[in-house]
Amino acid sequence: MTEARDAFVVFTPSGRRGRFPLGTPLLQAARQLGVDIDSVCGGRGICGRCQIELAEGQFAKHGITSSTAHITPLSEPERRFAERRGLADGRRLSCHARLQGDLVIDVPPDSQVHRQVVRKAAEACDIRIDPVVRLHYVEVTPPDMDHPSGDLERLLAALADQWGLKEPSCDLRLLPGLQALLREGQWRVTAAVQQPEQRVVALWSGLQERLYGVALDIGSTTLSAHLCDLATGDVLAGAGRMNPQIRFGEDLMSRVSWVMMHPGGEAEMTAAVRDAVNGLMADLCAEAQVDADAVLALTVAANPIMHHLFFGLSPVELGGAPFALAADGALHASAADLGLAINPGAGVYALPCIAGHVGADAAGVLLAEAPHKRSEVNLIVDVGTNAEILLGNRERLLAASSPTGPAFEGAQISCGQRAAPGAIERVRIDRNTLEPRFKVIGCDLWSDEPGFAEAVAATGVTGVCGSGIIEALAELHLAGVIDGDGVIDAALAEYTPRVRPQGRTCAYLLRAAPTAAAPDVEITQNDVRAVQLAKAALYAGVKLLMARFGVSRVDRIRLAGAFGSFIDVKHAMVLGLIPDCALDQVSAAGNAAGTGARMALLNAASRTEIEALAKRIEKIETATTADFQDQFVNAMAIPHKTDPFPNLS
Ligand code: FES
Repeated sequence: MTEARDAFVVFTPSGRRGRFPLGTPLLQAARQLGVDIDSVCGGRGICGRCQIELAEGQFAKHGITSSTAHITPLSEPERRFAERRGLADGRRLSCHARLQGDLVIDVPPDSQVHRQVVRKAAEACDIRIDPVVRLHYVEVTPPDMDHPSGDLERLLAALADQWGLKEPSCDLRLLPGLQALLREGQWRVTAAVQQPEQRVVALWSGLQERLYGVALDIGSTTLSAHLCDLATGDVLAGAGRMNPQIRFGEDLMSRVSWVMMHPGGEAEMTAAVRDAVNGLMADLCAEAQVDADAVLALTVAANPIMHHLFFGLSPVELGGAPFALAADGALHASAADLGLAINPGAGVYALPCIAGHVGADAAGVLLAEAPHKRSEVNLIVDVGTNAEILLGNRERLLAASSPTGPAFEGAQISCGQRAAPGAIERVRIDRNTLEPRFKVIGCDLWSDEPGFAEAVAATGVTGVCGSGIIEALAELHLAGVIDGDGVIDAALAEYTPRVRPQGRTCAYLLRAAPTAAAPDVEITQNDVRAVQLAKAALYAGVKLLMARFGVSRVDRIRLAGAFGSFIDVKHAMVLGLIPDCALDQVSAAGNAAGTGARMALLNAASRTEIEALAKRIEKIETATTADFQDQFVNAMAIPHKTDPFPNLS
């Protein structure tokens, strides 16, 4: 019998397997089999990203015995790495561990390049890690009098030889510092290479091991962002800030008007939002203890007006029909172009805008919610100062926006306020006595529970936030205080001091102020009207899309955004905010726009997917559609003038 010159190796969890000559480095075997193993240093034993674990024992399924005797002993580079950085028991560097006999090798998740990030929402798909920028460590040939060539050319040649990059190029911006950097690193450098162009966008002397990216959602009220490790997909920090553009106008249209009245004023708003974004990045980097220089990607979701202002584009055309976008495709820029305080070579990617009022935020929602991969008819509503509405399934997708105004965010309501400690967020009204009980943000007790007064002493009860308004109105309707036309019943003033005349209309006292200095919290007739107008706009928009789609009911409703997360579905339906649907098929989608931005950050294919989808989606302009007015009038009634709500009943 001749001695075996090769051996069998099986990699788990992929199950890929093959025969290789004895002495083959396991990383090389893995590469040849297409097994997903990470590497930044190109097999030099210094990055530690290629770690594997040996599975010992008999594997009847594969007909082999895998044993520590079948792998070379710890090599010198592995020993050095273990001393310097630590190497867990049983772990080896696959670039230096070689095959000596049959083996079963496990590739742990932290060593996989394209690992899956499991998303929290059970039904949503996971994210496959495949970012558009990657790190490549190279050893560059020093200059030689006999073979003269430029430092840049030798760097690019090293990337081509050592990493198989095809015709790599380099940002001109890096050239002035290149020579010093190469010498400082003794010809060893790490390049961040942007795909698919294969362009070097950042360089570090020596080994740079980690790259980060930020997914940013620019809302008209708040900015929120997440810092992710681009290799693992882990969210390392999350932060939010108020959008400083509020000083130019509370809602979107008032900001557009501001620009109209101050020609060139968009520059001021652009500077304000970029400043805030820089502050946000600094917060994120501080929280995650990450150097801002290692942040190499930023993805942006935003409504069209916020999107335009962030990129320094005038939003004036978006202020009126035909609501023309300066550009509706995905936008690419660098951090240097936009003056962002991260690595200047960082690629900034804005998801495409879908239509004049349906922006890159809706594109993010689409990516995250993926209605185009489902067969049932999905309705997705993102309620902000403008409601973005998506309807459809894998066959067809429609999008529209509806001018709901800021009532749902507590603005335009006499006692309305943003969701903050002290705001009433839950309301119940006794059907017989018409007495209310409520809960405020920052306190777990209901107002009629012992200890409530002490618990809210610090914050006070300052007003009602958006979800509180919805509940208050729905409860008032169920208790018969507000009729189907939205009128507060004046006759009840004789029955309860809660209903009090106010000029020609009435108001309902939700909470009497404990001292004369503080105002009462009450719901006025005007407040009811403001919410009716907002909900009618939303419902009419939804109905228009349903009519276009040719359905009279939807199978599933997802409420995106902060408002959607806090709103109580039943109360929303009582009010006729959303169409009738089985209650267990209505749920909150959380910050879906932000999730979509994170998907575009971590997975290059998501970008192609959303760009294609944005082109395919049918845009419906609600404002100019003839039916809108009729739908709107019918939807003013609570819950609706004509539509039945069988599930709700
Ligand atoms: Fe870098 Fe193995 S590839 S240590």
